[in-house]
Amino acid sequence: MSIFNTKERYGAVAIALHWIMALMLIALIVMGLYMVGLPDAGFDKTKITLILYHKELGLAALLVATIRLAWRTGSDLPTLLSTLPYWQKVTARFVHLVFYGLMFALPISGLLMSSAAAIPVSAFGMVELPDLVAPSEDLFRRSIQVHRWLGYALLVLIGIHAGAALMHHFVKRDDTLQKMVTPRRAR
Ligand code: HEM
Ligand code: HEM
Repeated sequence: MSIFNTKERYGAVAIALHWIMALMLIALIVMGLYMVGLPDAGFDKTKITLILYHKELGLAALLVATIRLAWRTGSDLPTLLSTLPYWQKVTARFVHLVFYGLMFALPISGLLMSSAAAIPVSAFGMVELPDLVAPSEDLFRRSIQVHRWLGYALLVLIGIHAGAALMHHFVKRDDTLQKMVTPRRAR
């Protein structure tokens, strides 16, 4: 087993980061969609508690995304299977690129939302993050919309990406999914 990527296969670190990040993002989307539907006020503090956990997990996702981007830029990028048609290669690479954009845009728009609403964000209960912007009702409303639509876009892309991976595994029976599961063996 190798921790590094090669031109043909993903290494253990890229694979671990891919699946940790996938779990975090799916949890954040499910949590986000569920919590916004809960009632605002009253004695039930479920909504506010979930929002607090959502922010902490969202910040952790930003941290993991930064580590992942650093690892990705410093590593070899395995080629897609040569048997794929050109349009699938272009689409796959484009979706991967958009994923990287969303991994940053989502938490940043979340932070912007909290900052514009003048609600402090604590980083894992250790430090309070500085405000990114001055309080603004208008920016708060806009950033909610941006955050929501970026979340929907991420959900749709995950569906396409995971669907394609499963189709390659179960229908085409090629090595695409296996490449993201088993690191290459050290020679
Ligand atoms: C990759 C990270 C993140 C993802 C995938 C994500 C996803 C989502 C989704 C899908 C929603 C539901 C949107 C809706 O239907 O209205 C939501 C809501 C929300 N998110 Fe995030 N989020 C992330 C990070 C963050 C961060 C870092 C913060 C703040 C520091 C944050 C703060 C919020 C808040 C306050 C809401 C509720 C907005 C409302 O009341 O309408 N999120 N998020
Ligand atoms: C939140 C969910 C996900 C995100 C953001 C995501 C993102 C990515 C990205 C950016 C890559 C390119 C490699 C890299 O730069 O690290 C990739 C590759 C891959 N992903 Fe995902 N992924 C997600 C979920 C899934 C799921 C659920 C599956 C399978 C059912 C999957 C299967 C694959 C496979 C097989 C590859 C390798 C493609 C190749 O190079 O041939 N991913 N993913």
